Amino acid sequence: MVNLDYKFSGIIDILNRLKPFNPDIAIILGSGLGSFAKSVKIVKSIPCGSIESYPLSSVEGHSGFIHFAEIGNKKLLLFEGRIHFYEGFRLSDCLLQTHITHKLGCKYLIITNAAGGINNELHPGSLMLNTSFNSMNIKNELTEVTGLADNYKKDNLLNCPSADLNNIIRTSASSENIDLKEGVYWFNKGPAYETPAEVKMAKIFGGDAVGMSSAHEAVYAGSLGIETASISLITNYAAGISESKLSHTEVIDTSEKAKYIFEKLIKRIILNL
Ligand code: HPA
Repeated sequence: MVNLDYKFSGIIDILNRLKPFNPDIAIILGSGLGSFAKSVKIVKSIPCGSIESYPLSSVEGHSGFIHFAEIGNKKLLLFEGRIHFYEGFRLSDCLLQTHITHKLGCKYLIITNAAGGINNELHPGSLMLNTSFNSMNIKNELTEVTGLADNYKKDNLLNCPSADLNNIIRTSASSENIDLKEGVYWFNKGPAYETPAEVKMAKIFGGDAVGMSSAHEAVYAGSLGIETASISLITNYAAGISESKLSHTEVIDTSEKAKYIFEKLIKRIILNL
């Protein structure tokens, strides 16, 4: 079992020293969505590279910063740059941002990600609220961190994603006239995108969108009792769903085009919390 309190105690000490306030709401910004940080009032930005032993992402579009920011009277903790399992990190490293969220005392965690659409109703540019996760691919690694769940964690996990937070997100989307789809996020370990055969399997077993992050962050946050939700920006059709060939450039291009609507939704959610 990996003890995250021990593993990350140095990083938490540094952040406790540097934080300008105690944040309430944490947001993990997915592929190409890092620019959200430019649309809010930043109080302090900490480059992840300046924090000793912080695992640094090498993925294009994931430059690493921890921002302390404000919208109205809401105090935000924004993670720009994600730590991906497919880059060769241990799953425990990939849970650092969730761990920071917990240790800095945030009540809410909003996870965002780019994902490939499987469900016929999802198209590049669609937004999908994650109603559940399929994280079977990483059960073993997750258990290594969460341990065998005690009753407290088990109860918490029954509320992951958070029913209340998801309802606030639905209301926020409809008040902004945003067509928010809903579905199951299917986790793929990566590093490769899925094959058409794998996507077909995910579809048969109830996956609506597929991606390489978020599921473990949500499950771990949920087990800690953080009100957690996750929203996918569909950046492409999953492999085999359309004729076109997948690329990371397509993922970044679509998120670039869809970022305004995404920012609008996230801001409305924050104001409604
Ligand atoms: N598969 C996995 N991860 C992704 C995809 C995809 O199609 N699109 C964006 N991230």
